[in-house]
Amino acid sequence: MLYTYTKIIVYLLEYNFLRLISKVFGWPFAPPPKLTQVQKQTINSAFKALINRWKVVQEKFPGSNEISSPANHLVRFGLILKDLPGFLTRKNQKNSRDLLRINFPAECPDYFKRNYHYQTDGYFSYDSASRYDHQIEILFLGTAHIMRKVAYAELGDVIKGNENVLEFGAGSGASGHQFKSLFPDTSLDILEPGAEYLNYARKTYSQTFNQFIPKFMENFKSDKKYDVVFSCFVMHEIPVSYWDTVTTSIKEALKTGGHLLIIDSQQNCDKSAHQFALDQFGEDFYEPYFPEFRERSLEDYFQEKGFRLIRKNEVLFSKTLLFSLS
Ligand SMILES: C[S@@+](CC[C@H](N)C(=O)[O-])C[C@H]1O[C@@H](n2cnc3c(N)ncnc32)[C@H](O)[C@@H]1O
Repeated sequence: MLYTYTKIIVYLLEYNFLRLISKVFGWPFAPPPKLTQVQKQTINSAFKALINRWKVVQEKFPGSNEISSPANHLVRFGLILKDLPGFLTRKNQKNSRDLLRINFPAECPDYFKRNYHYQTDGYFSYDSASRYDHQIEILFLGTAHIMRKVAYAELGDVIKGNENVLEFGAGSGASGHQFKSLFPDTSLDILEPGAEYLNYARKTYSQTFNQFIPKFMENFKSDKKYDVVFSCFVMHEIPVSYWDTVTTSIKEALKTGGHLLIIDSQQNCDKSAHQFALDQFGEDFYEPYFPEFRERSLEDYFQEKGFRLIRKNEVLFSKTLLFSLS
């Protein structure tokens, strides 16, 4: 656990360094939220629950606690520092359409032409992909990779060896790479509409993946059948009106008896004591479809579409939903 705690401390220090440097240069870094005592306790117990589950996952999947390169870490942090003033200005101005220099691909739907999280270039440039995973770790104070790996462990009794797996919304490839640290023998295809994000994944994790699919899930017609399909923090970025076409693609891609693992934020139907954290997330980060996402329970939705819910679990302020398709 020493490595885990070191990582958390490093990201915490980096977060505070970004705040400090912003103060020195007068950049508009929003102050941290003022939390009540009860909210602080809720965060602490959610965090402790996550760490306890992480200890168990590491024992069961010894490859899951891989050491990352400190040199690459420093390079990525440098990129974040360089981008910081522009990012903070955009966030301060609530400018979510700062994409004038981007040439959108023909199949790109309007809903995607945004600066999600106010990030520079949205999901449309290699630089954005280079910063993405590190930014997410700073945002979750070094627990994002732990959340994902604890979530993937839900598939421990489903995956036995070299199953065919598809991840949709794979981002920069980090979430898929972390999946493979638990299940190294699987053959993992990753689907991602951000072409430069996919390029980054191809370059950074060239040995990890079987196939790189540059597509929106709603346009994906699979030419093979997968044993498992999963997504990690993707559904809340897709407008609810598109979920039916996304689900049609998932069903066509999955074998009968195959499994679907959805990892995403908790919603209005989840613990009332956790709703303050979801409110704060929606306020701090530009997530255009988060309010409608919170209202449409994922577990109800997928069950209505013919999936059987096997297990639901909590991961910090997110949840895992494991379904099968009969
Ligand atoms: C919050 S990121 C999560 C990335 C990665 N899975 C992770 O855990 O870090 C959401 C990802 O979903 C992708 N995405 C958004 N809409 C999508 C769609 N309709 N089909 C497939 N991917 C989509 C985005 O391009 C982005 O890479």
